[in-house]
Amino acid sequence: MQPVLTSKKFGNTPKGDEIQLFTFSIPGQIEVSVMNYGATWTHLLIPDRNGKLEDVVLGFDTLDGYLQKDYLEHYCYIGSTIGRIAGRITDNRFHLEGKTYELPANLNGIHLHGGMEGWDKKVWESEPFETNNSVGVTFYYQSKAGEENYPGTIDIWVTYTLDETGRLEISYKASSDEKTIINPTNHAYFNLTGDFSKTIEGHGFFVDAGKYLPMNQNSLPTGEIASVGGTPFDFRNLKTISEPIHREHSQLEIAGGIDHCFVLNQPEDCAVLYDPESGRKLKLSTTEPGIQVYTGNYLGNNFEGKNGLTYGKRTAICLETQHFPDSCNHPEFPSILLMPEEIFQSRTQFVFSAE
Ligand code: BGC
Repeated sequence: MQPVLTSKKFGNTPKGDEIQLFTFSIPGQIEVSVMNYGATWTHLLIPDRNGKLEDVVLGFDTLDGYLQKDYLEHYCYIGSTIGRIAGRITDNRFHLEGKTYELPANLNGIHLHGGMEGWDKKVWESEPFETNNSVGVTFYYQSKAGEENYPGTIDIWVTYTLDETGRLEISYKASSDEKTIINPTNHAYFNLTGDFSKTIEGHGFFVDAGKYLPMNQNSLPTGEIASVGGTPFDFRNLKTISEPIHREHSQLEIAGGIDHCFVLNQPEDCAVLYDPESGRKLKLSTTEPGIQVYTGNYLGNNFEGKNGLTYGKRTAICLETQHFPDSCNHPEFPSILLMPEEIFQSRTQFVFSAE
């Protein structure tokens, strides 16, 4: 069925920018909302096996929720577009064309998810659109050379599209006037039960990855690309998260759970999340080589989310499709360089069902 697009005011930023919430829906099947503050994915309502629509992504009921101090102090990036670079960077620096770029540390001495004021905190221009089989919105932002000390002015477009089958796509397009680096992602937190007082430990998870990136004590890749065989990171068959996550394994101790990049074998249906209770299922395809899987280990009931609920440890799971973290310091990883004559492109698709 052809989806419907609506929009409404979601709030004002302290600087007075009016933020719009765009909603794409197919009645009874799916309702997706996104806003132009941080090009953020705020809501996803999908039915359980009895047709009951519930919201399955963490977020806030109003813009003010996203601006509250208690939330910002905990660096959770709920539903945000992350840029320029997802994840952490070794020693907060990288080298390019004989120059060293020092990046500001925003969390415990580390540069995380774009820095002090990443793309998650920017007001983006919005262009809603309708075609004959889809609706969506394209968000645009110009990241000037020198922003967070990165070189090159980047023009970035993030497009959310819902098609007539109920498939949601997030696509990225970017160009730069100078050689630079880029590795954006989306930071949605999923809990398919639709009940954010529950954890995601009962969810089944599959990821078509034979390898993953072990981390050092600072949650940065060691550089090793290790086999998942015989480790808690082997989700090559759908497996309930609670079992591997409680095993004793030095890699699970570092982040208090999974917070690791999985190296994808192939792009199609390469990750599945399934909630046996509600029957809700998410299938993901991506053009990116990796998924940073983060099991909400640092959520700690620190702020109020939707319906006044606080979000505790493992309330949700993030599936951040991207190039590998810290690629700028690992020439052996797929490159995140963006040359002036190039167009950066990336696509991730989500298909939802209930069984
Ligand atoms: C990172 C985590 C971080 C979380 C929230 C994830 O992408 O891998 O280490 O705590 O984002 O900022």
